[in-house]
Amino acid sequence: MDKEISVGLLGLGTVGSGVIKIIEDHQEVLVHQLGRGVKVEKVLVRNLDKARQIEIDHDLLTTNSDEVVSNPNIDVVVEVMGGVEDAREYILKALQNKKHVVTANKDLIALYGPELEQVAHENGCDLFYEASVGGGIPLLRGLTDGLVSDRIHQVMGIVNGTTNYILTKMSQEGQSYEDALRKAQELGFAEADPTADVDGLDAARKMVILARLSFLTNVELEDVEVEGISNLSLTDIEYGKKLDLTMKLIGFANLTNGNHIEVTVQPTFLSNTHPLASVNDEYNAVYVNGEAVGETMFYGPGAGSLPTATAVMSDVVAVIKNMLLGVNGKQYVKLRYDKEITPADQRVSQFYLRLHVKDELGVFASISELFNQMGISFERILQTPGKKGFADIIVVTHKTSLQNFRDALKKLEELDVVDKVESYFRVEGDAQK
Ligand code: NAP
Ligand code: HSE
Repeated sequence: MDKEISVGLLGLGTVGSGVIKIIEDHQEVLVHQLGRGVKVEKVLVRNLDKARQIEIDHDLLTTNSDEVVSNPNIDVVVEVMGGVEDAREYILKALQNKKHVVTANKDLIALYGPELEQVAHENGCDLFYEASVGGGIPLLRGLTDGLVSDRIHQVMGIVNGTTNYILTKMSQEGQSYEDALRKAQELGFAEADPTADVDGLDAARKMVILARLSFLTNVELEDVEVEGISNLSLTDIEYGKKLDLTMKLIGFANLTNGNHIEVTVQPTFLSNTHPLASVNDEYNAVYVNGEAVGETMFYGPGAGSLPTATAVMSDVVAVIKNMLLGVNGKQYVKLRYDKEITPADQRVSQFYLRLHVKDELGVFASISELFNQMGISFERILQTPGKKGFADIIVVTHKTSLQNFRDALKKLEELDVVDKVESYFRVEGDAQK
């Protein structure tokens, strides 16, 4: 058998442990695919004495990053440590040392992807990051290889496992937000700092990567409008159920007029008949809409040790196959278009709105009149009596522009009969079905 390929790991947590496990347990699959073995040469950690999730030869561990990124025996560096600054420094050094890099780090790729791809290209190295979006789902290669000849104009989906797990447990099992988050952390789905998950930032970073690869334009984090789930109220989830709507944290990227992009991450009500409504627990699913292919959907485990490690290993195998063919260092994605942010008057959807209103004659008539004036029609309405002369009115509108809806909200707040605009959410899928 030909010489083994040596891999160096930066990090040995949830994902790193999974990578080691796959290299050990699936060695014969790797040998079959590559005609040679894959071995782990060195592993960077912070704490040499920490108990590990897997058995590992202690001599493989180091706290000196140079023993990985400058190690002459290592061909491929796998970065699964997370964080931005240290990870960027080590990856740059590895690339400058002509080592191919595989990373699961969406924070880093969302911020520095184009720069790192350029450095990789200049050094004749591969830089792959399949595991950075969608955990074990082969999604990025689906976009960059499978749909390479198409023009993609929309990507929409559930791209954060932790929040999907929390929302599933809250709405189906009545678990509290705190309990569900704790469990997601125990299961290894959440980020080291889980605010990145619950505030929508993790999903926003993934949407940046997806939008970049789909639209071939340099979408950046500041282009994304982000809202997380930490302020969601169970009241809305329950009203949603009465209206056959399911709450999900949805990432949405839309390309119109050639270069107008809209990228958002926000809690969204989905019609129960929408396929994304039944994607539960830590599972992710992403719809991709292409001019030629039409609608495709990618579904699978969005987080966790072995699923994510499977995606990492797919990159490692791709790097090694390129090594064997002598074709490393071709850029993963070449950006080609300028971008403009789609204005709010061109973003159209349905909306769910909950109002706290005075429970008296004529209230409903004044609200309806205002919506009539704004040209917004109601698809569905629910009214429930509240405390001390107040009531909740819940409305699902027909499609209207975000600008028109925002203008209507301002006018509603000025109405004497409206005590408070409690909440509003985008609605996707035909809510009536
Ligand atoms: P984790 O469990 O927190 O593990 C991080 C590992 O990196 C630990 O072994 C830690 O060392 C080491 N480390 C961190 N900072 C270091 C530093 N500055 N120097 C040396 N070692 C350092 O993280 P994870 O969940 O495996 O996630 C790793 C990466 O994969 C992140 O970018 C994450 O966003 C991404 N990702 C995770 C998942 C998932 O399901 N968990 C899915 C997709 C992508 P010690 O063990 O000594 O503390
Ligand atoms: N914290 C991330 C999630 C890990 O929950 O989706 C996978 O990227």
